[in-house]
Amino acid sequence: MLLKVEGMSAGYSGVDVIRELDLTIDKGEVVALLGPNGAGKTTTLLALAGVLAPTSGRVLYRDAPLRGALHQRARRGVSYISEQGSVFSRLTTLANLRLGPGPVADALALFPELEPLLKRRGGLLSGGEQRMLALARSLAGRPDLLLVDELSLGLAPLIVRRLLERLRAAADEAGTAVLIVEQHASQVLAVSDRGYVLRRGRLSLSGTGAELLASPEALQAAYLGAGADASSG
Ligand SMILES: Nc1ncnc2c1ncn2[C@@H]1O[C@H](COP(=O)(O)OP(=O)(O)OP(=O)(O)O)[C@@H](O)[C@H]1O
Ligand SMILES: [Mg+2]
Repeated sequence: MLLKVEGMSAGYSGVDVIRELDLTIDKGEVVALLGPNGAGKTTTLLALAGVLAPTSGRVLYRDAPLRGALHQRARRGVSYISEQGSVFSRLTTLANLRLGPGPVADALALFPELEPLLKRRGGLLSGGEQRMLALARSLAGRPDLLLVDELSLGLAPLIVRRLLERLRAAADEAGTAVLIVEQHASQVLAVSDRGYVLRRGRLSLSGTGAELLASPEALQAAYLGAGADASSG
């Protein structure tokens, strides 16, 4: 198992907002982290990225504790794309790519759409272009574990599909393990091996992507609370 999280709790100012989370991700797996607003999805990623210190539990990465700040985790192959975008708005697309962990040519091979935008400042790119830039930069570094928050916020469905397909390809071709937070459950589950649903800081449902897609009632119940602590797999 690449990442094994056991009983992880974390929060802000001494108040835990995620409690006793257990989750695993294997090499080459795409795992969706779903749940309603305020459920604790971003908090979970922040704790795994090293931005926020867990208050209890264990996080094992390649069977060793995952510790330190984000830049230290980056050296161990962990990449994090935040909700806010992770693009430097005053730097050009090219400069943004050069700051990344991998070759610019690799980033452009993943997203040729960025080629005509190389001289444009990051802040002037559209929302979708900024997400492409962030994803291209991250994937060019061939991360072993990619943590990505709200890849598709406010984006057109076709771009969302393109981004999700690139993630799926990174998992299949480079063995990248992806933990992805998404609001659009059905779209992300279609490319996910497994999914977890968080509700009020706890896991309320988990299963394979296919299982979760096949039972929209269970998924809805997990979001709304009726199916708390149920598990389909
Ligand atoms: N910096 C903070 N200080 C205090 N409380 C916070 C902070 N950030 C988040 N919270 C609280 O922690 C809880 C979980 O928030 P989190 O951002 O992890 O949710 P989320 O599942 O990512 O939601 P969304 O889908 O809206 O992005 C919420 O109740 C939120 O208000
Ligand atoms: Mg969030």
